[in-house]
Order: sequence, then structure tokens, then C-alpha cells
Amino acid sequence: MIEELVYVTHSPEETMALGRALGCLLQGGELLALEGDLGAGKTHFIKGLAEGLEVTETVTSPTFGLIHEYRGRVPLAHFDVYRLDSPAELENLGYEEYFFGAGVTAVEWSDQIRDYLPEECLKICFTVLGSQERQIRFTAAGAAFRDLLAELEKAFGALPVSQREHP
Ligand SMILES: Nc1ncnc2c1ncn2[C@@H]1O[C@H](COP(=O)(O)OP(=O)(O)O)[C@@H](O)[C@H]1O
Ligand SMILES: [Mg+2]
Repeated sequence: MIEELVYVTHSPEETMALGRALGCLLQGGELLALEGDLGAGKTHFIKGLAEGLEVTETVTSPTFGLIHEYRGRVPLAHFDVYRLDSPAELENLGYEEYFFGAGVTAVEWSDQIRDYLPEECLKICFTVLGSQERQIRFTAAGAAFRDLLAELEKAFGALPVSQREHP
């Protein structure tokens, strides 16, 4: 059971590969809470994630539309809450259906709606380290996500820069 797992990727493709490795492991019902500045790689990661979920459509950034839904092995809902005027706007979007539903939901800028996130989720923080380097830190909230991180560590080729076991 891994509580925290950190990778550094060196290209957009590597970030997508990490997303793909995670996507392959998801079964539906998971919420992925992504944080990080503009250009940190959140959307690229979700592009890979979608591939792992066998989505065939092209994933594009939903900044202006707020939610994109894709059909895959399980449904994928992609939120970008950067442009919400207030967190309460989420309620008008019927967010519960996604956040507590049977599909996979990935939320960019999730730190802006922290109070609305389920207790059990996977936080994924993106940090720009250099022009091509991105640190990607996974933090599991809940036992199921700690198991998932253990599986991800086995499945993804590259070595993590650090990992922390559940005490
Ligand atoms: N290691 C990397 N991982 C992801 N993106 C990278 C990486 N190195 C450079 N980039 C570039 O950074 C940008 C990331 O964009 P995007 O995924 O849309 O970020 P966000 O959704 O966080 O705003 C792209 O222009 C991409 O080419
Ligand atoms: Mg984005």
C-alpha cells in the first residue's frame, strides 16, 4: 500500500505514458483530483489516461466547456474548473453524478473546489521543473487508492523519485 508516489517525466509523451499506465488500472468510480499551474501537464496526462481507458476520441482541454465526456471501457468525465466563477457553480453542472458515479472523473484545478471532492480520491499534483521536466506527485486518500498506487508503481516502467508506504 503506497500513500505517496512521485515521478519526474522528461517529455509530454512520458507524461502521457504515465497517464496511460494509470488509466489501464482504473475500473470506474475513481475521482482523480489534478492540481498544478497552466502548462504543467494535466491535460497531457489525461490524454494518456483516456488511452488507458480505451477512449478512441481525441481528448481536448475542456476549459471553456467545463465538462467533456468520453466513452471508453468505462466512461470518462473530464472537468476543468479553472474558469468557474464560484465553486457553487458546480452544483448547476450536476457534478454529483460524476464525482460519485460509476465512471472515472478527472478534474483539472481541483484545488479550487476542494470542499466538493469525495473523501476518497487520488490527488495528482503537477509541478514544472524545467522546459521538459515535470514532477508528478500522486497522493492516495483511502485504502483503494493506496492499493492502486502500489499497482501503478509496478506497472509503470520508470522508477519513481520517491515513494512513501502507508504506515
Ligand atoms: N514532461 C512533460 N509533460 C507534459 N507536458 C510537457 C512536458 N514537457 C513539456 N511539456 C509541454 O507543457 C505543456 C503542457 O500542457 P498541458 O498538458 O495542456 O498542461 P495543463 O493542462 O496543466 O495546463 C505542453 O505544451 C507540453 O508540450
Ligand atoms: Mg489543461
